[in-house]
Amino acid sequence: MTGSADFLLNGKRGSGLDVHDRGLQYGDGLFETLEVYQSRPLFWDLHLQRLTKGCHRLAIPAPDPLVLRQEGDQLIRQCTHGVLKLIVTRGCGGRGYRPPEKPEPTRLLSLHPWPDYSEQLTQNGVRVRFCQTPLGLNPQLAGLKHLNRLEHVLARSEWWQADIHEGLMLNGQGEVIEGTMSNVFYFSNGDLFTPAVDQCGVKGIVRDLIITLARQLSLSVSETSVSPERLLHADEIFLTNSVIGIWPVRQLGDHRFILGENTRRLQAAYQQLWQQQAGYA
Ligand SMILES: Cc1ncc(COP(=O)(O)O)c(C=O)c1O
Repeated sequence: MTGSADFLLNGKRGSGLDVHDRGLQYGDGLFETLEVYQSRPLFWDLHLQRLTKGCHRLAIPAPDPLVLRQEGDQLIRQCTHGVLKLIVTRGCGGRGYRPPEKPEPTRLLSLHPWPDYSEQLTQNGVRVRFCQTPLGLNPQLAGLKHLNRLEHVLARSEWWQADIHEGLMLNGQGEVIEGTMSNVFYFSNGDLFTPAVDQCGVKGIVRDLIITLARQLSLSVSETSVSPERLLHADEIFLTNSVIGIWPVRQLGDHRFILGENTRRLQAAYQQLWQQQAGYA
């Protein structure tokens, strides 16, 4: 695969999106981002389930999963390692917010090169900062991977230093919710905590997997309110998403963290799952 993305729009090659599409006009839609390894879309079923659930919550008719799978397979046939993005919008509508009575959703699948994240980030950890841009509270949208990402765009434009790998976002009440592209976890006295995402934030696929894995390892896991102070006093912190997997945090602001055994255990457990998905186990 070369440096540019390859697109399938409603099953056809190319990217000639209708300018009236509500995804473009209003961010009226959802997306999924997943890893492709040796032509396999990893954790495909989980991504599809989240997409379908999201469609139900937004009253967008969910595309047939078999059609999405077929189109995905068509795009990733030659891909050794890449990122597959699936976008579903409510389709075209007239001017104004009122949704069409009979929406005809748009499917836009695109395949992108694998980002050149160094393996060192997984092994030795990343440097993270707090962002100023707040996340708005909205339980109706909380958890969804919807197309309205302006808050994250503003947060991500707060820093340009290449050695800062992620920014943490707080809600208007000062609680830590997530990273600009990831979910966040921390260990305190051996127990695992992650911010609740019932008021805002994305309910990540890897976040859910980590919660399940941690419980299988008999760890106590809480989805809770997290203040910046609690995070700064944590024993270990790590970030998750479908592309980075698990990145330990070695520095948050001026605070340095150890790369602890608890995070290593979860990395090993996640690696096993990854290998099953990638067809190694
Ligand atoms: C804002 C945000 N939160 C969390 C995540 C993690 O989601 P997932 O684990 O499904 O990749 C992402 C992924 O891109 C994200 O953009």
